[in-house]
Amino acid sequence: MSSAASIDLRDVRKQDLNHVWHPLMQYEGRSEDDLLVIVSADGCEITDSDGKTYLDAYGGIWNVNVGYGRDEIVEAVYEQMKTLPFYPMTQINVPAARLAARLAELSPGDLNHFYFVNSGSEANETAIKVARQYGRATHSGESRFKIICRYKGYHGFTMGAMSATGQVRRRAPFEPLAPGFIHVELPTADAHGADDIARVIEREGPDTVAAVLAEPVVGGGGVHVPPDDYFPALREVCDHYGCLLMFDEVITGFGRTGKLFAAEHWDVVPDVMTIAKGVSSGYLPLGACAVTEKVWSAFLGGADEGKEFAQVSTYGGHPACCAAALANIEILTRERLWENSEAVGAYLLARLKDLSSPLVKEVRGLGLMLAVELQNEDGTELDGERTKKFGGALRDAGVITGKMSHVMVGSEPVFTLASPLILTEEQADRIAGAFVTALRAIS
Ligand SMILES: Cc1ncc(COP(=O)(O)O)c(C=O)c1O
Repeated sequence: MSSAASIDLRDVRKQDLNHVWHPLMQYEGRSEDDLLVIVSADGCEITDSDGKTYLDAYGGIWNVNVGYGRDEIVEAVYEQMKTLPFYPMTQINVPAARLAARLAELSPGDLNHFYFVNSGSEANETAIKVARQYGRATHSGESRFKIICRYKGYHGFTMGAMSATGQVRRRAPFEPLAPGFIHVELPTADAHGADDIARVIEREGPDTVAAVLAEPVVGGGGVHVPPDDYFPALREVCDHYGCLLMFDEVITGFGRTGKLFAAEHWDVVPDVMTIAKGVSSGYLPLGACAVTEKVWSAFLGGADEGKEFAQVSTYGGHPACCAAALANIEILTRERLWENSEAVGAYLLARLKDLSSPLVKEVRGLGLMLAVELQNEDGTELDGERTKKFGGALRDAGVITGKMSHVMVGSEPVFTLASPLILTEEQADRIAGAFVTALRAIS
């Protein structure tokens, strides 16, 4: 465990307050002390400038799958930086080629071709463009450009990915967004979500729909696990109408839900899959858009046919990022971390379900992708103040979680958990204990 000596970072706090624009943060009324200054991390724990250690039950931001302090990744990056710090994808670099081949081995079905970018947003941006170009290439005379997505889904901050996002409060300030994105409700246990999508495709006109884009388990929108028959049925719907099924596995990939990829829970192979976050566990930024042989073949043609994919990213496929991802995947597969995610995730879920408080509305999730939704004692929605107090109490108890924010409307009292996949049962007990303490603090 690393312990940072108490560091005087008053200057840093001032510089931050005056000059750093943090995400999702209201600056009016903000003080220097609102946020922690995180100075080091090891395993599942992070340490702040006062030397206080917290259990990072959010895994950075759903992404530090192998945990902090993995020297193996750092050394791989160092070696790569010394040998070849950068070269663009206009030529071949060794780590990118090796990484793509490894990802092809590990990914579901024949998702064999990888376009590298720097983030999950860019991966989805790429997927949307792939779907539109694929639609044009394979259905001549039709204009297949519409992408069907779901409310509460999150796909990124860039204009295309934000247009696919179904979180009203995140979209509203930036409208109008890109045209051609249609949102449907998430499936519930008693509704036939895939049939709903089939109806929407019929109404929109099947020859206008390029793809359906979905997170296998919705993450930032509050952790929603679909009924088991949803994605197999949706696969059939997409095949029936000739549109692509695209999985956003940016959070769910690389062991988060107890399988290497969430698609494996239902034996469904998407036509397009986007990855980021856990592919490099945050050691360096990397994202990718993967396509099957069927999709790939639509991009093949003569030199003058214009079938190539006309997108270039300066840093996509950066050799150091790919080296980090390769070392990260080596750890993840050697330690079979999806198995720990499944086992300790089920243990933590059970502990949280035991909370038995009228303030807990629902506990849900899969693997180490969990959520605790709160309510008032009388079943009404917890207000913002009480939600904030609960989050503060968790932090005081030494546990950092995510908090769903800016999704739909209301105060959204959902606390999300996505710890590193190396979490132990003892650490899971600490998380559950912090929830008990925080519940007491707002009772
Ligand atoms: C499901 C999902 N897709 C895409 C993204 C966007 O990834 P990034 O923040 O790396 O651009 C996120 C980010 O949280 C995400 O949760």
